[in-house]
Amino acid sequence: MTSVVAVGYIIAFSLFVLGLMGLTGPRTAVRGNRLAAAGMAVAVVSTLLLPGMGDWWLIALGLVLGTVVGVPAARRVRMTAMPQMVALFNGVGGGAVALIAWAEFRDTAGYVVEPLHVAVASLFAALVGSISFWGSLVAFGKLQELISPRPLGLGAVHRPVTALALAAALAYVVVVAAGGTSGWLIVGVLVASAFFGVLLVLPIGGADMPVVISLLNAATGLSAAAMGLALDNTALIVAGMLVGASGSILTNLMARAMNRFVTSILLGGLGGAGAGTAAVGAGAAGGTGTVRSTDAADVAIQLAYAGRVAVVPGYGMAVAQAQHAVREMADLLRSSGTEVFYAVHPVAGRMPGHMNVLLAEADVPYDALKDLEESNSLLARTDVALVIGANDVTNPAARTDPDSPIYGMPILAVDACRSVIVLKRSMGSGFAGVDNALFVDPRTSLLFGDAKESVGAVVEELKAL
Ligand code: TAP
Repeated sequence: MTSVVAVGYIIAFSLFVLGLMGLTGPRTAVRGNRLAAAGMAVAVVSTLLLPGMGDWWLIALGLVLGTVVGVPAARRVRMTAMPQMVALFNGVGGGAVALIAWAEFRDTAGYVVEPLHVAVASLFAALVGSISFWGSLVAFGKLQELISPRPLGLGAVHRPVTALALAAALAYVVVVAAGGTSGWLIVGVLVASAFFGVLLVLPIGGADMPVVISLLNAATGLSAAAMGLALDNTALIVAGMLVGASGSILTNLMARAMNRFVTSILLGGLGGAGAGTAAVGAGAAGGTGTVRSTDAADVAIQLAYAGRVAVVPGYGMAVAQAQHAVREMADLLRSSGTEVFYAVHPVAGRMPGHMNVLLAEADVPYDALKDLEESNSLLARTDVALVIGANDVTNPAARTDPDSPIYGMPILAVDACRSVIVLKRSMGSGFAGVDNALFVDPRTSLLFGDAKESVGAVVEELKAL
C-alpha cells in the first residue's frame, strides 16, 4: 500500500508544479488552479490510504465541515474581498499545523520518545503555526474592518512587549526541546506565539496588509513542511515548501512594487501605532486647486478624437464591476481606429494581479495589457488617459513628496499624457489616504459617479456620435 501512496504523492506533486506554472499567466491561471486542486485531492486520498488511518467518522466529519464551509465561502466571496479570504484560509492552515504539533506532544509524552529532529520540527511548527493563525486572524479583521484598519498598538511599550512575547515563546520551546514534558509547556509555546502574532500584525496599517498576509502564508507553508518532517509525511513537506517558497517570492515582489522592504513593513509596524505605514481612508484627495468636472458627452468626444487612449484601471473599477462596460467602450473606440491599451500597475486594486484577473474575465485581449514599465513609455505619447477608479497608483506625490506615505512607489505617469479623465464618485482619497494633485492638474477633468454607470453613459454617447 505504501508504494501506491508514494505513486499518488508523485502524481500530486507533479500536479502542484504544473498548477503553479499555470498561475504565471491570466490565460492559463484557471487551468493551473484546477490542476493544483486536483493535486491536493490526490494527496488527500493517498494519505487516507496510509496504513494505520483510523477514526473514519472523525475524518468524514472534518471533510463534510470543510466542504460545507469552504465551498459556499469561496463561491460567494467578492473579488474585492479576496485578500481577507486568503488571510482566513491561510490562518486556518497555520492553526491546523499548531494543533497537530500539540496532539503529537500529547501522543509522544512531550516528544521524549522521538529523536531530537522530530521534537525541533514539531516545536517550529507549533510556534510558526500559532503566529500565522493569530496574525492572519488580525489581518482578516482589519481588511474586513471588524477592527480598525489603522495601525493599532500599545504605544511606547509595544515593541518591548512584543519582544517579550517572542522571548517567552522561544523559552518554552527550549524547555520542551531540553526534555520538559508538562502539558503546560506546549500550551505556553502556543499562547506566547499567539500574543506575538497578534502584536506583530496589529500596528501594521491596512495598506501593507496584503504583503503581511502573503508573508504569513509563506510562514504557514514552512510550518506545514516542518510538521511533515516530524510526521515523516512527504506530501506535507513538498506542499509546505511550495507554499513557503512561492509565498516568500510573492511577498518580495509585492513589497518591491510598493517600494517597501518587508523588514521595514514589519519593523515600521513594531515602532508603535502609526509608524511608517499608511492608514486606510484617512484624509481627502485633491489638495489646493480647481477641480474641473466633466460629463459623459464631453468624455466621449475627447476619446473619439484621440489617436491613442490609455485605460488606467484601479480598485474603483473592481468595486463597480465596470470591467465589461470598459471592454465594450474599448471595442467601440478600436472599431473607429483609436489605439487603446490598459496601463496596469502591479498593486492596482487590492491583491496581486487584481486588474489582470478582472480584465481577463471581461475578455480583454491579453496583449492590450501593458505593465508599469511599458505603460510609462507609452503614456508620454498618449492623448487621453482614462483613469477608472484608480488613485494612489497615479499619484505624483509618490515622485515629488518625500513626506508622503507612498513616496518612492513607482507610479503610472498619466500626468505625461495630453489630457487625463478621472472616473470616481467623489473627492475621496484612495487606499493610502493621501491627497492626489493629479485631480487639480489643469489637464485633468473628473467624471463623477459610479465607474460602471459612468462608463456605460460614455458608451451610449460614443454610439450616438
Ligand atoms: P485606490 O488608491 O485605493 O483608489 C481607488 C479609488 O476608486 C478611490 O479614490 C475611490 O474614490 C474610487 N472608487 C471607489 N469605488 C468606486 C466606484 N464604485 N466607482 C468609481 N470610483 C470608485 O486604488 P488604486 O489606485 O488601485 O491603488 C491601490 C492601492 O491599494 C495602493 O495604495 C496600493 O498600495 C494598495 N494596495 C494594493 C495591494 C495589491 S497587491 N494590489 C495590496 C495592498 C494595498 P471615490 O471614493 O471618490 O469613488
